[in-house]
Amino acid sequence: MAQEPRTIVITGGGSGIGRAVAMQCAARGDRVAVLDIAGDTAVEAAAAARAAGAAAAIGLACDVSREESVAGALSESERVLGPAWGVFANAGMDAGGFAHELPFETWKRVLEVNLTGVYLTCKYALQQCLKASRGGSIVCTSSPGAFVSFAAGAAGAYSASKGGISALVRCLAVDYARHGIRVNAVVPGATETRLMWANVAPEEIPRMRRQISAEVPIGRLASPDEPARAVVWLLSDESSYVTGSHLVCDGGILAKACISV
Ligand SMILES: NC(=O)c1ccc[n+]([C@@H]2O[C@H](COP(=O)([O-])OP(=O)(O)OC[C@H]3O[C@@H](n4cnc5c(N)ncnc54)[C@H](O)[C@@H]3O)[C@@H](O)[C@H]2O)c1
Repeated sequence: MAQEPRTIVITGGGSGIGRAVAMQCAARGDRVAVLDIAGDTAVEAAAAARAAGAAAAIGLACDVSREESVAGALSESERVLGPAWGVFANAGMDAGGFAHELPFETWKRVLEVNLTGVYLTCKYALQQCLKASRGGSIVCTSSPGAFVSFAAGAAGAYSASKGGISALVRCLAVDYARHGIRVNAVVPGATETRLMWANVAPEEIPRMRRQISAEVPIGRLASPDEPARAVVWLLSDESSYVTGSHLVCDGGILAKACISV
């Protein structure tokens, strides 16, 4: 189903899944705003989006955990590209640690970036959607950790932040359905990105990649393009009756019981 070019705002769009969504939205001719705390990667991704066919694209430095930074970036995006119709609230970080040892600062930073960042992105994007009165589609990035504990453990802060995102998605879906704004979550499984290996020593990565591949039912990690395709579907009229849902793109992780008997 072809659709008119629309403005899509993507946080954490400088790399990984966010960048893949930016490229796929560009390929279908959308206007794309790439926001990332690493401003240089946002600018580079916006240039790549223009080369991939975006009607227009800008890259902006933005720390999603700071309200003034999100408000400023969303305002600049609206000025240049017009009001957002689609939003991928995706920026995230991971910092592991057992609760009794985890520095409070680390806990707060993970919650501020992952959960508060999604809230702030939605807050300012929703204002644009409401003002434009053309509906919209918001997709937030959750995780299997929102539903089950990772067997390796020490993921309390990350999983709590993702559980919060999943709860927020359900609330926003109900609050804004009457305005024609849909809100959903994508649940990527193990995906080959920088964040995937954030808490793994470089020399451990090949062994862990083999272990994950052996345990994920589909037998491998995802490429960022795979969850991105699920996101782009949610950011289209193809998913017009889908709201408040989780689109799981995890190679079967959540379908599998964790014990092997
Ligand atoms: N890779 C996986 O296996 C996996 C699985 C489930 C969920 N996720 C989620 O997917 C999302 C995207 O991560 P990814 O895997 O593509 O990793 P990634 O590291 O490639 O991308 C994350 C991006 O977020 C940006 N970012 C970090 N903090 C930010 C902040 N405060 N403000 C703005 N931008 C910030 C980073 O600079 C980076 O470009 C995250 O929310 C992550 O939790 C990833």
